[in-house]
Amino acid sequence: MKIVTTIEELRDQLRGQLRTAFVPTMGNLHEGHLSLMRLARRHGDPVVASIFVNRLQFGPNEDFDKYPRTFQADVEKLEKEGVYVLFAPTEKDLYPEPQEYRVQPPNDLGNILEGEFRPGFFTGVTTVVLKLFSCVQPKVAVFGKKDYQQLMIVRNMSRQFALPTEIIAAETYRADDGLALSSRNRYLSSDERAEAPQLFQTLNAVAQEVRSGHLNMFELERDAMAQLDKRGWKPDYVAVRKRIDLQPPSAGDLAEGVPLVALCAAKLGVTRLIDNLEI
Ligand code: PAF
Repeated sequence: MKIVTTIEELRDQLRGQLRTAFVPTMGNLHEGHLSLMRLARRHGDPVVASIFVNRLQFGPNEDFDKYPRTFQADVEKLEKEGVYVLFAPTEKDLYPEPQEYRVQPPNDLGNILEGEFRPGFFTGVTTVVLKLFSCVQPKVAVFGKKDYQQLMIVRNMSRQFALPTEIIAAETYRADDGLALSSRNRYLSSDERAEAPQLFQTLNAVAQEVRSGHLNMFELERDAMAQLDKRGWKPDYVAVRKRIDLQPPSAGDLAEGVPLVALCAAKLGVTRLIDNLEI
């Protein structure tokens, strides 16, 4: 695997490649990331991964400095997956001057759910993803469904800017007890780790209620949050939304049976976890 840090070196490595499959990451790689690499390999060749902890998507009270950086271990994992190039720019490489041009997702998608609790997060994500796409020029790029709203925002960006990059969605990779793999899981104490699968169980319970005809979303969401709260979580949201645009379903939508997704975010101790489940 070639490890490159500058945009110039990256372009040299990829000159003439027309079927590049790209997986952007912030490092601290786990099985979930590696499953994205495997999916990328099925959709293109060569596979390019990036590791870049993107300051633009962290809020002032978030964990940019504490974000786990495990570069050597990440390199070994990517090598085993047969990744061809790892692009690991420094901040100076990717942002040699202040990044004043930003991509602004529409408010009705970018400022809801995660965007409501993490102002500016999606602007930071779309800005870096557009820049990484511009560096790598991939034919396809793989994003996990674990970050459901991020996947939708990136896919819409790619479509609206007519980028030549197809966005491929990867299923969420879960531990045997249902907990979605995430770099943040490493912050959980052993008691918290034992409690953490409750988030997915909550989503499953909500999905079960919806499937069995309980369609008062306000009540479902409120009760699910109260349950989490009782168990010591601090929920930001539990929300049942339309898959197509993440807006709340109307009575008409529910009557028509539009596809839904349940999404949630909650803090357990100091660790904020998110998850979702298509209903
Ligand atoms: O999902 C992530 O790890 C990040 O948001 C991404 C897509 C690599 C952009 O920094």
